[in-house]
Amino acid sequence: MCGIVGYVGRSSNGEHIGHNALDVVMEGLRRLEYRGYDSAGVAVLADGEISFRKKSGKLSNLITELDEHPLPESLTGIGHTRWATHGGPTDQNAHPHLADGGKLALIHNGIIENFAELKLELVRKGVTFLSETDTEVAAALLADIFRTKLNGDVSDGGLTKAMQLACQRLEGAFTLLAVHADQPDVVVAARRNSPLVVGLGDGENFLGSDVSGFIDYTRRAVELGQDQIVTITADTVEITDFFGAPAQGKEYHVDWDPESAEKGGFSSFMEKEIHDQPDAVAQTLLGRSDIHGKLTLDELRVDVELLKDIDKIIVLACGTSFYAGQVAKYALEHWCRIATEVELSHEFRYRDPIVDGNTLVVSISQSGETMDTLMAVRYAKEQGAKTLSICNTNGSTIPRESDAVLYTHAGPEIAVASTKAFLAQITAAYLLGLYLAQLRGNIFQGQIKDILADLGKIPAKIQRILENEEQIKELGRSMADAKSVLFLGRHVGFPVAMEGALKLKELAYIHAEGFAAGELKHGPIALIEEGQPVFVVVPSPRGRDSLHSKVVSNIQEVRARGAKTIVIAEEGDEAVKAYAEHVFYIPEAPTLLAPLLATVPLQIFALELAQAKGYDVDQPRNLAKSVTVE
Ligand code: M6R
Repeated sequence: MCGIVGYVGRSSNGEHIGHNALDVVMEGLRRLEYRGYDSAGVAVLADGEISFRKKSGKLSNLITELDEHPLPESLTGIGHTRWATHGGPTDQNAHPHLADGGKLALIHNGIIENFAELKLELVRKGVTFLSETDTEVAAALLADIFRTKLNGDVSDGGLTKAMQLACQRLEGAFTLLAVHADQPDVVVAARRNSPLVVGLGDGENFLGSDVSGFIDYTRRAVELGQDQIVTITADTVEITDFFGAPAQGKEYHVDWDPESAEKGGFSSFMEKEIHDQPDAVAQTLLGRSDIHGKLTLDELRVDVELLKDIDKIIVLACGTSFYAGQVAKYALEHWCRIATEVELSHEFRYRDPIVDGNTLVVSISQSGETMDTLMAVRYAKEQGAKTLSICNTNGSTIPRESDAVLYTHAGPEIAVASTKAFLAQITAAYLLGLYLAQLRGNIFQGQIKDILADLGKIPAKIQRILENEEQIKELGRSMADAKSVLFLGRHVGFPVAMEGALKLKELAYIHAEGFAAGELKHGPIALIEEGQPVFVVVPSPRGRDSLHSKVVSNIQEVRARGAKTIVIAEEGDEAVKAYAEHVFYIPEAPTLLAPLLATVPLQIFALELAQAKGYDVDQPRNLAKSVTVE
């Protein structure tokens, strides 16, 4: 999830009447920095040449670079703020990427799934690459098409045509913006499964990942459809599909203020991130399997023979990531038949754990900087374990120090309370589990394909929950005075219950506990008194029947003692209705995948309740996004 901006302004009779492209682009990047801050870069066109600057780290590093090495005044420019996926957050991997002997510059948001085969093809043609990115491959492909198929002819929309042909060859999700020195008054952009909007000005036009990229200059925006190409000049906006057929965009007026535009119109980053979840899961699945349902995790960069010999997995994590690990355990053991322990990172190295060369230690961390987890990974390495990091932050310390890494592609998570990273972590852990099962032959390839197909349906199902969020929001608002809320779950619903409780504690400062429903009778049931709210995550009645009926019995037990029960159940589960004050239905899913759905209403509930109390949900008291102390 990167941020991109493009701009073309006009000069009249040699007089510069538009804005300076660099100013527009930098202002847009400042507003889009929430989308990624691993590196930033800009390219402008002046005097028939492309000039660019790019720098790793936050936008402030690029600003310093531009102070020291200014760029010329210009009417055409593009800019990028990066959230790294392919290749670490270095100067070299920063965008723009240049091709055609420095005459073409390209920026990109998304993941190009077939970049490896395209790269091979281009290398065979003699292209050399400077970075590890999929973006540079797209730039080289575009340049190659422009030169070899169109003979560099710009008379008939050269760059636009080249972009159309290039997009016909690209697979995955991408927004691309390109400029060429031979067409200095044009920015060409393409979009597939990745955001792009056009801003309409007077004698100037804009492009942005979202409207915050140009909100300081215009409120007139055009929404593009999937698989469309847009060519902007100062006075024109032309849209086509990938095959050159004319297409239409939808114009609308932006009435958000600049601050809410950064949050996509939501009241907080947390709310936005909850709504980002369909995308976070989809992006994490993207490019990880072929059409035959075979997982292709070459990016792990680990000797597969070592993975085949593993006889134990230890998952290490803290907080929400720990609960993701607990969900993962059920899948890892079920699919791979490898004994799996899940341990809080800070407890691990103080208990003399049994670890050897056949142990795979999987750390899970959104930030990749959590000190407790880093120390635990270092300790595991010292003991001879193989270490694999599931992480959301490219180039952070934990993946760097691990033997292998599987990145989640949730995009930057700004709100302190983790939401989309949790779902992406579970998704990545499932991919790892299926990959190990594939390597070791634990389950048939056909079953893996079916599970991947079920995973592929999850984003749309999350979207359905989000579209029906009003019922749970209303409950959240109505419970603003609650003093304590309990959460019960069983099997994979148990970690979901604990995550629901954690969200409520950290956002609304309410006492909340998550329990395994079966454990109630061993003590916690003493907490139940008249009116005690209890959330119950009910397993599918289509799964192992005993599990469903046992949880229904647990609901009856707490209800008989005065609890007010709020049930999260699968659509069609009529049996639970009789025992619940409120039922929230989630779409059907296989038992192991249900946490990707059941968690969402609990996040919305905590958010809404905390907001009803007037709390800052993005920065709850006493917490930090990245806990870099032990
Ligand atoms: O960056 P990490 O995933 O390693 O962070 C782990 C925990 O600190 C984190 O999940 C924390 O519990 C969040 N505040 C949960 O919302």
